Amino acid sequence: MVILSIVGTKGGIGKTTLTANLGALAADMGLRVLLVDADIQGSLSKFYPLGKPAQDGLTSVVLSGRVAESAITTTVWDRLDIIVCDAPRRKFSGIETTDLEQFIQGRIDAPMILRKALRSPLIEDHYDLVFVDTPGAQGPLLYTAALAAHRLISPIMPETPSAREFRTGTIELLVKLEEAQALGITPGPLTAVLNRVGHTNDARQITQEIRDSYLQMKGLVTVADTLIPASVAYNEAATAQLPVHRLKRRADRGVSPFDTMHRLVWELIPSLQGVYAGGFAEEGVEA
Ligand SMILES: Nc1ncnc2c1ncn2[C@@H]1O[C@H](COP(=O)(O)OP(=O)(O)OP(=O)(O)O)[C@@H](O)[C@H]1O
Ligand SMILES: [Mg+2]
Repeated sequence: MVILSIVGTKGGIGKTTLTANLGALAADMGLRVLLVDADIQGSLSKFYPLGKPAQDGLTSVVLSGRVAESAITTTVWDRLDIIVCDAPRRKFSGIETTDLEQFIQGRIDAPMILRKALRSPLIEDHYDLVFVDTPGAQGPLLYTAALAAHRLISPIMPETPSAREFRTGTIELLVKLEEAQALGITPGPLTAVLNRVGHTNDARQITQEIRDSYLQMKGLVTVADTLIPASVAYNEAATAQLPVHRLKRRADRGVSPFDTMHRLVWELIPSLQGVYAGGFAEEGVEA
Protein backbone atom coordinates (compact mmCIF):
# COMPACT_ATOMS: atom_id res chain seq x y z
CA MET A 1 0.00 0.00 0.00
CA VAL A 2 1.37 3.38 -0.97
CA ILE A 3 0.10 6.73 0.30
CA LEU A 4 0.48 9.77 -1.94
CA SER A 5 -0.43 13.21 -0.62
CA ILE A 6 -1.11 15.97 -3.10
CA VAL A 7 0.27 19.16 -1.58
CA GLY A 8 0.95 22.79 -2.40
CA THR A 9 1.06 26.03 -0.48
CA LYS A 10 -1.11 27.89 -2.93
CA GLY A 11 -4.82 27.63 -3.69
CA GLY A 12 -6.33 26.76 -7.05
CA ILE A 13 -3.31 25.01 -8.57
CA GLY A 14 -5.15 21.78 -9.35
CA LYS A 15 -4.58 19.63 -6.26
CA THR A 16 -8.14 18.34 -5.99
CA THR A 17 -8.48 17.81 -9.75
CA LEU A 18 -5.25 15.83 -9.83
CA THR A 19 -6.16 13.77 -6.74
CA ALA A 20 -9.56 12.85 -8.16
CA ASN A 21 -8.29 12.02 -11.65
CA LEU A 22 -5.22 10.04 -10.57
CA GLY A 23 -7.27 8.09 -8.04
CA ALA A 24 -10.06 7.19 -10.46
CA LEU A 25 -7.63 6.22 -13.21
CA ALA A 26 -5.60 3.95 -10.92
CA ALA A 27 -8.89 2.34 -9.81
CA ASP A 28 -9.90 1.89 -13.46
CA MET A 29 -6.52 0.23 -14.05
CA GLY A 30 -7.47 -2.37 -11.45
CA LEU A 31 -5.97 -1.10 -8.20
CA ARG A 32 -7.98 -0.66 -5.02
CA VAL A 33 -7.88 3.04 -4.27
CA LEU A 34 -8.86 5.14 -1.27
CA LEU A 35 -9.24 8.91 -1.60
CA VAL A 36 -8.92 11.00 1.55
CA ASP A 37 -10.37 14.50 1.61
CA ALA A 38 -8.15 16.29 4.11
CA ASP A 39 -9.23 19.76 2.99
CA ILE A 40 -12.08 21.22 5.00
CA GLN A 41 -13.44 22.88 1.84
CA GLY A 42 -14.60 19.36 0.97
CA SER A 43 -14.13 19.70 -2.83
CA LEU A 44 -12.86 16.14 -3.26
CA SER A 45 -15.87 14.79 -1.33
CA LYS A 46 -18.14 16.37 -3.95
CA PHE A 47 -16.09 15.42 -6.99
CA TYR A 48 -17.75 12.05 -7.76
CA PRO A 49 -21.19 10.66 -7.05
CA LEU A 50 -21.05 8.63 -3.86
CA GLY A 51 -22.66 5.41 -2.75
CA LYS A 52 -24.48 5.08 0.54
CA PRO A 53 -23.07 7.76 2.84
CA ALA A 54 -20.86 6.36 5.58
CA GLN A 55 -21.57 7.29 9.17
CA ASP A 56 -18.26 9.08 9.60
CA GLY A 57 -15.45 10.79 7.76
CA LEU A 58 -12.24 12.72 8.29
CA THR A 59 -13.30 14.20 11.64
CA SER A 60 -13.76 10.80 13.25
CA VAL A 61 -10.46 9.60 11.79
CA VAL A 62 -8.56 12.57 13.20
CA LEU A 63 -10.30 12.51 16.56
CA SER A 64 -10.07 8.78 17.13
CA GLY A 65 -6.68 8.41 15.46
CA ARG A 66 -7.90 5.43 13.44
CA VAL A 67 -9.86 4.57 10.32
CA ALA A 68 -12.96 2.58 11.20
CA GLU A 69 -15.01 0.95 8.43
CA SER A 70 -17.74 3.45 9.30
CA ALA A 71 -15.46 6.23 8.00
CA ILE A 72 -15.27 4.87 4.45
CA THR A 73 -17.78 5.82 1.76
CA THR A 74 -17.96 4.06 -1.60
CA THR A 75 -18.09 6.02 -4.85
CA VAL A 76 -20.04 4.97 -7.92
CA TRP A 77 -16.76 3.81 -9.48
CA ASP A 78 -15.49 0.29 -8.86
CA ARG A 79 -12.53 -0.03 -6.49
CA LEU A 80 -12.70 3.68 -5.58
CA ASP A 81 -13.63 4.63 -2.01
CA ILE A 82 -13.32 7.86 -0.09
CA ILE A 83 -12.99 9.25 3.41
CA VAL A 84 -15.08 12.37 3.02
CA CYS A 85 -14.56 15.63 4.80
CA ASP A 86 -17.75 15.13 6.77
CA ALA A 87 -18.50 18.28 8.74
CA PRO A 88 -19.43 21.21 8.99
CA ARG A 89 -22.77 19.43 8.51
CA ARG A 90 -21.89 16.84 11.15
CA LYS A 91 -20.30 16.80 14.54
CA PHE A 92 -18.19 14.10 16.10
CA SER A 93 -17.82 14.23 19.87
CA GLY A 94 -18.87 17.87 19.70
CA ILE A 95 -16.05 18.86 17.33
CA GLU A 96 -16.85 20.38 13.95
CA THR A 97 -14.51 20.00 11.00
CA THR A 98 -13.81 23.73 11.12
CA ASP A 99 -12.22 23.12 14.50
CA LEU A 100 -10.02 20.34 13.16
CA GLU A 101 -6.93 22.48 12.64
CA GLN A 102 -7.18 23.66 16.23
CA PHE A 103 -7.76 20.17 17.52
CA ILE A 104 -4.72 18.84 15.67
CA GLN A 105 -2.57 21.74 16.81
CA GLY A 106 -3.40 20.98 20.43
CA ARG A 107 -2.17 17.40 20.16
CA ILE A 108 1.34 16.36 21.13
CA ASP A 109 1.19 13.68 18.41
CA ALA A 110 -0.11 16.15 15.77
CA PRO A 111 2.30 15.25 12.94
CA MET A 112 1.60 11.53 13.35
CA ILE A 113 -2.20 11.52 13.53
CA LEU A 114 -3.00 10.73 9.89
CA ARG A 115 0.17 8.74 9.38
CA LYS A 116 -0.78 6.37 12.18
CA ALA A 117 -4.43 6.20 11.12
CA LEU A 118 -3.72 5.51 7.44
CA ARG A 119 -0.77 3.16 7.85
CA SER A 120 -2.99 0.62 9.57
CA PRO A 121 -3.96 -3.01 8.90
CA LEU A 122 -7.48 -2.10 7.69
CA ILE A 123 -6.07 0.17 4.98
CA GLU A 124 -3.15 -2.17 4.18
CA ASP A 125 -5.56 -5.07 3.68
CA HIS A 126 -8.12 -3.21 1.58
CA TYR A 127 -6.21 -0.76 -0.60
CA ASP A 128 -3.24 -0.61 -2.94
CA LEU A 129 -3.10 3.17 -3.17
CA VAL A 130 -4.25 6.05 -0.99
CA PHE A 131 -4.46 9.60 -2.40
CA VAL A 132 -4.78 12.41 0.13
CA ASP A 133 -6.03 15.85 -0.96
CA THR A 134 -4.78 18.65 1.27
CA PRO A 135 -5.57 22.31 2.06
CA GLY A 136 -3.86 25.04 0.02
CA ALA A 137 -2.41 26.76 3.08
CA GLN A 138 0.18 25.67 5.61
CA GLY A 139 -1.26 24.46 8.88
CA PRO A 140 -1.52 21.39 11.12
CA LEU A 141 -3.89 19.55 8.76
CA LEU A 142 -1.55 19.98 5.79
CA TYR A 143 1.42 18.86 7.90
CA THR A 144 -0.24 15.74 9.24
CA ALA A 145 -1.58 14.87 5.76
CA ALA A 146 1.84 15.42 4.17
CA LEU A 147 3.65 13.37 6.81
CA ALA A 148 1.23 10.48 6.33
CA ALA A 149 2.50 10.02 2.78
CA HIS A 150 5.18 7.78 1.36
CA ARG A 151 5.39 10.28 -1.51
CA LEU A 152 4.30 13.86 -2.14
CA ILE A 153 2.97 15.24 -5.39
CA SER A 154 2.67 18.94 -6.00
CA PRO A 155 1.01 20.57 -9.01
CA ILE A 156 2.62 23.76 -10.24
CA MET A 157 1.31 26.21 -12.79
CA PRO A 158 3.90 27.62 -15.15
CA GLU A 159 3.07 31.33 -14.84
CA THR A 160 6.04 33.11 -13.34
CA PRO A 161 4.55 34.44 -10.06
CA SER A 162 2.94 31.09 -9.39
CA ALA A 163 6.15 29.26 -10.21
CA ARG A 164 8.15 31.51 -7.88
CA GLU A 165 5.62 31.09 -5.14
CA PHE A 166 5.73 27.36 -5.67
CA ARG A 167 9.47 27.35 -5.25
CA THR A 168 9.48 29.44 -2.08
CA GLY A 169 6.36 27.78 -0.71
CA THR A 170 7.56 24.27 -1.45
CA ILE A 171 10.98 24.86 0.09
CA GLU A 172 9.28 26.31 3.18
CA LEU A 173 6.96 23.33 3.38
CA LEU A 174 9.75 20.80 2.90
CA VAL A 175 11.91 22.54 5.52
CA LYS A 176 8.95 22.53 7.89
CA LEU A 177 8.29 18.83 7.26
CA GLU A 178 11.96 18.09 7.92
CA GLU A 179 11.32 19.09 11.55
CA ALA A 180 9.52 15.76 11.86
CA GLN A 181 12.92 14.05 11.58
CA ALA A 182 13.24 14.77 15.30
CA LEU A 183 10.25 12.46 15.79
CA GLY A 184 11.79 9.78 13.60
CA ILE A 185 9.61 10.61 10.58
CA THR A 186 11.32 11.16 7.24
CA PRO A 187 9.05 13.05 4.83
CA GLY A 188 8.54 11.35 1.47
CA PRO A 189 10.18 12.68 -1.69
CA LEU A 190 8.23 15.29 -3.66
CA THR A 191 7.42 15.16 -7.36
CA ALA A 192 6.32 18.44 -8.95
CA VAL A 193 3.85 18.14 -11.82
CA LEU A 194 3.50 21.06 -14.20
CA ASN A 195 -0.21 21.69 -14.57
CA ARG A 196 -2.25 23.89 -16.93
CA VAL A 197 0.66 24.34 -19.28
CA GLY A 198 -0.33 26.60 -22.20
CA HIS A 199 0.83 26.29 -25.78
CA THR A 200 2.80 29.54 -25.82
CA ASN A 201 6.57 29.85 -25.93
CA ASP A 202 6.41 31.64 -22.62
CA ALA A 203 4.94 28.61 -20.90
CA ARG A 204 7.60 26.45 -22.50
CA GLN A 205 10.37 28.76 -21.34
CA ILE A 206 9.04 28.87 -17.79
CA THR A 207 8.67 25.11 -17.79
CA GLN A 208 12.36 24.87 -18.71
CA GLU A 209 13.33 27.39 -16.01
CA ILE A 210 11.46 25.38 -13.40
CA ARG A 211 13.12 22.19 -14.51
CA ASP A 212 16.56 23.85 -14.37
CA SER A 213 15.97 25.41 -10.97
CA TYR A 214 14.91 22.06 -9.58
CA LEU A 215 18.10 20.45 -10.74
CA GLN A 216 19.68 22.53 -7.97
CA MET A 217 17.30 21.01 -5.44
CA LYS A 218 18.31 17.48 -6.27
CA GLY A 219 17.19 15.03 -3.68
CA LEU A 220 14.38 17.27 -2.45
CA VAL A 221 12.23 17.68 -5.54
CA THR A 222 11.91 16.03 -8.93
CA VAL A 223 9.91 17.50 -11.79
CA ALA A 224 7.78 14.91 -13.59
CA ASP A 225 8.48 14.52 -17.31
CA THR A 226 4.75 14.43 -18.03
CA LEU A 227 3.19 17.87 -18.30
CA ILE A 228 -0.53 18.45 -17.93
CA PRO A 229 -1.65 20.85 -20.66
CA ALA A 230 -4.31 23.46 -19.95
CA SER A 231 -7.58 22.01 -21.20
CA VAL A 232 -11.25 22.74 -20.61
CA ALA A 233 -11.70 18.96 -20.39
CA TYR A 234 -10.59 19.05 -16.72
CA ASN A 235 -13.33 21.45 -15.87
CA GLU A 236 -15.91 19.71 -18.05
CA ALA A 237 -15.11 16.36 -16.44
CA ALA A 238 -15.44 17.86 -12.96
CA THR A 239 -18.80 19.39 -13.87
CA ALA A 240 -19.96 16.02 -15.23
CA GLN A 241 -18.56 14.32 -12.07
CA LEU A 242 -16.46 12.09 -14.32
CA PRO A 243 -12.79 11.16 -14.20
CA VAL A 244 -11.23 13.09 -17.08
CA HIS A 245 -9.99 9.91 -18.83
CA ARG A 246 -13.62 8.81 -19.18
CA LEU A 247 -14.76 12.07 -20.74
CA LYS A 248 -13.34 11.27 -24.14
CA ARG A 249 -10.34 9.38 -25.33
CA ARG A 250 -9.22 11.47 -28.29
CA ALA A 251 -8.29 15.13 -28.09
CA ASP A 252 -9.63 17.69 -30.54
CA ARG A 253 -6.07 18.94 -30.70
CA GLY A 254 -2.85 18.25 -28.82
CA VAL A 255 -2.48 15.39 -26.35
CA SER A 256 -5.74 14.08 -24.91
CA PRO A 257 -6.28 14.10 -21.13
CA PHE A 258 -6.76 10.33 -21.50
CA ASP A 259 -3.17 10.00 -22.72
CA THR A 260 -1.78 12.63 -20.35
CA MET A 261 -3.28 10.98 -17.28
CA HIS A 262 -2.11 7.53 -18.37
CA ARG A 263 1.44 8.80 -18.87
CA LEU A 264 1.39 10.56 -15.53
CA VAL A 265 0.12 7.52 -13.63
CA TRP A 266 2.74 5.35 -15.36
CA GLU A 267 5.45 7.82 -14.37
CA LEU A 268 4.29 8.21 -10.77
CA ILE A 269 3.42 4.55 -10.20
CA PRO A 270 5.85 2.54 -12.33
CA SER A 271 4.15 -0.77 -11.46
CA LEU A 272 1.23 0.43 -13.63
CA GLN A 273 3.45 1.08 -16.66
CA GLY A 274 1.62 0.03 -19.83
CA VAL A 275 -1.67 -0.71 -18.06
CA TYR A 276 -4.73 0.98 -19.56
CA ALA A 277 -8.01 1.88 -17.92
CA GLY A 278 -10.28 -1.06 -18.51
CA GLY A 279 -13.84 -1.03 -19.64
CA PHE A 280 -14.03 2.43 -21.17
CA ALA A 281 -15.57 1.07 -24.34
CA GLU A 282 -18.28 -0.82 -22.40
CA GLU A 283 -18.88 2.25 -20.28
CA GLY A 284 -19.88 4.17 -23.37
CA VAL A 285 -16.84 6.42 -23.46
CA GLU A 286 -15.77 7.35 -26.97
CA ALA A 287 -13.01 5.13 -28.30
N1 LIG B 1 -4.90 21.03 -16.53
C1 LIG B 1 -5.92 21.88 -16.33
N2 LIG B 1 -6.41 22.64 -17.34
C2 LIG B 1 -7.41 23.49 -17.14
N3 LIG B 1 -8.02 23.69 -15.96
C3 LIG B 1 -7.60 22.98 -14.91
C4 LIG B 1 -6.53 22.04 -15.02
N4 LIG B 1 -6.34 21.47 -13.79
C5 LIG B 1 -7.24 22.04 -12.96
N5 LIG B 1 -7.99 22.95 -13.61
C6 LIG B 1 -9.07 23.79 -13.06
O1 LIG B 1 -8.51 24.67 -12.09
C7 LIG B 1 -9.44 24.95 -11.06
C8 LIG B 1 -8.81 24.73 -9.71
O2 LIG B 1 -8.49 23.36 -9.57
P1 LIG B 1 -8.57 22.62 -8.16
O3 LIG B 1 -9.83 22.90 -7.45
O4 LIG B 1 -8.22 21.20 -8.43
O5 LIG B 1 -7.36 23.34 -7.39
P2 LIG B 1 -6.92 23.17 -5.86
O6 LIG B 1 -5.44 23.33 -5.83
O7 LIG B 1 -7.49 21.94 -5.31
O8 LIG B 1 -7.62 24.44 -5.20
P3 LIG B 1 -7.85 24.72 -3.61
O9 LIG B 1 -6.54 25.20 -3.09
O10 LIG B 1 -8.92 25.74 -3.59
O11 LIG B 1 -8.25 23.41 -2.99
C9 LIG B 1 -10.64 24.04 -11.33
O12 LIG B 1 -11.65 24.81 -11.94
C10 LIG B 1 -10.11 22.98 -12.30
O13 LIG B 1 -11.11 22.49 -13.17
MG1 LIG C 1 -8.67 21.62 -3.63
